[in-house]
Amino acid sequence: MSGQPTPLFEICDLHVVADDAEILKGVDLTILPGEVHALMGPNGSGKSTLASALMGSPEYEITKGSIRFQGDDITDWSPDVRGKAGVFLAFQYPQTIAGVSVINFLRQALSARKGIDMSVLELRLSIMEWMARLDMDPAFADRYLNEGFSGGEKKRNEILQMAILEPQMAILDETDSGLDIDALRVVASGVREVRKDRPELGLLLITHYQRLLDELRPEHVHLLFDGRIVASGGMELAAQVEAEGYEAYRGEA
Ligand SMILES: Nc1ncnc2c1ncn2[C@@H]1O[C@H](COP(=O)(O)OP(=O)(O)O)[C@@H](O)[C@H]1O
Ligand SMILES: [Mg+2]
Repeated sequence: MSGQPTPLFEICDLHVVADDAEILKGVDLTILPGEVHALMGPNGSGKSTLASALMGSPEYEITKGSIRFQGDDITDWSPDVRGKAGVFLAFQYPQTIAGVSVINFLRQALSARKGIDMSVLELRLSIMEWMARLDMDPAFADRYLNEGFSGGEKKRNEILQMAILEPQMAILDETDSGLDIDALRVVASGVREVRKDRPELGLLLITHYQRLLDELRPEHVHLLFDGRIVASGGMELAAQVEAEGYEAYRGEA
């Protein structure tokens, strides 16, 4: 065995089509355990498409290339199986599920993810512990999922899911509607708190917030432009984009 750990994600020459249009045009990306990668890029460049393709969303057809997860070729795996294997996509559950509380949702999700049925009491204890760490009101567990949640509460709920479900790899895709200051703080401190417990967690952070990047300091920053990664680097790349915008990369795509 070499010293290099098995990558969480190994994405090779990924081409993705939706509605007859090619959206991703050959994406290569490798994420090792414990690494934090930020993916930036203008609206419409394909960031959310990449997140959906990594989760196996049937809306997106992979026409070329492959996705490996922890050494397995998962290109044809269903979203359920990917979830069980430990891939987690957050910031994508805007739906309100009538009559399902936060705790019940977590119980079902945990059962689907790990095949274990925790007792309600056990789960409640574990949730209470995490809610204290994430600075959440204990009453939150019994609220109905996403019903009347503020932006910050939605983020808290998603970070709580990530903490409880213990994925190997989490993809956090910010919606275009954006995050308010409270939500940004929740995400930054929540991610830090979860990583304290699970330093091997891999993270793909899709964001255009310099502030979030400043707080989380990803080691790897990539720019997606017109379905291709046109530049990769460290935080200096994020700073450059912040200062100059994406125009300089237009010619690279
Ligand atoms: N399901 C879909 N069907 C058709 N076109 C899509 C679909 N999803 C995304 N697109 C198109 O693909 C491009 C990239 O979208 P998206 O991945 O959401 O970009 P980003 O998240 O970077 O803003 C856009 O032009 C968008 O209109
Ligand atoms: Mg998007």
